[in-house]
Amino acid sequence: SIKISALTRSRPENFSTNMRDIIVLIGPPGAGKGTVAPIIIQKTGVPQLSTGQMLRAAVKAGTTIGKQAQGLMAKGKLVPDEIVARLVKERTEQRDCSRGFILDGFPRTINQAKLLAKILEENNEYVTLAIEIRVPDSVLETRICGRWMHKASGRSYHVTFSPPKSMKLLSNGKPDVKTMKDDKTGEMLYQRKDDTPEALKTRLGVYHKNTAAILKFYNEILKVLDGDQSIKNVQKEAAVLMDDHMTSTFILRNPYNLVDAPKRRSKL
Ligand code: AP5
Ligand code: MG
Repeated sequence: SIKISALTRSRPENFSTNMRDIIVLIGPPGAGKGTVAPIIIQKTGVPQLSTGQMLRAAVKAGTTIGKQAQGLMAKGKLVPDEIVARLVKERTEQRDCSRGFILDGFPRTINQAKLLAKILEENNEYVTLAIEIRVPDSVLETRICGRWMHKASGRSYHVTFSPPKSMKLLSNGKPDVKTMKDDKTGEMLYQRKDDTPEALKTRLGVYHKNTAAILKFYNEILKVLDGDQSIKNVQKEAAVLMDDHMTSTFILRNPYNLVDAPKRRSKL
């Protein structure tokens, strides 16, 4: 029981076995939140909720929220906290979130972190893991300006670091737009409106202004991922981090199986 109390130190007394796994992904624009999410999905089986993607869908659909968000997003500014928090709340009430969810790009302000805590408290829940993807600013412009995305799935590619299979280059070395297609569906890829050096400057400024407070807020459950490595190595490190997380939550859910926990997990 000594071991259990050490493990549960940062968790509320009322931890219950059917609690949802709620994971927060923190990182500057281009850090690789969208690139690491598939690994977390694979390990946990819970869906990724990207507020950026939800907002882009609202813009495309021309909803009231979309109209409020459009101009702000194109400039790289934040959409008001209450709007984003409401989007997240509604989304997390859907059935596919019954075992948990990954928040990609939310919270982005300390106010959003508090709003999230309040939403979760209503069900006696809390964030189980926060992952900071740490990357120096200097590599982000290359990542952002070389990115191509698949609209429906949110999958991202990169002209240099992760090109789609269909990509062909023109004689000037730039990718031929017609050949930029999604590997899985063959649908056309596109470049985001806010993926310009000017908007990136604003997005980075916003990130650095708000993030220290958020990291402090999640201090006890924070894990840092070195995002300044090849995509393959970042994903490998993420897989190890998630295995640790799954093992420790497995132990919390099954305190009588403490000794066998890791062994049992690998058999599941
Ligand atoms: P959002 O869509 O979340 O954008 P972001 O935070 O700027 O982050 P990105 O999606 O640009 O980066 P990423 O970390 O996902 O990188 P990726 O994996 O794609 O938000 C957009 C906007 O919506 C905000 O600016 C704001 O206006 C609004 N918004 C969203 N949430 C909000 C909130 N909570 N509150 C208020 N407003 C909100 O990787 C980038 C590229 O690099 C890819 O091409 C990838 O292939 C490549 N790459 C990734 N990892 C590596 C690597 N290790 N090495 C080399 N290349 C790599
Ligand atoms: Mg993203």
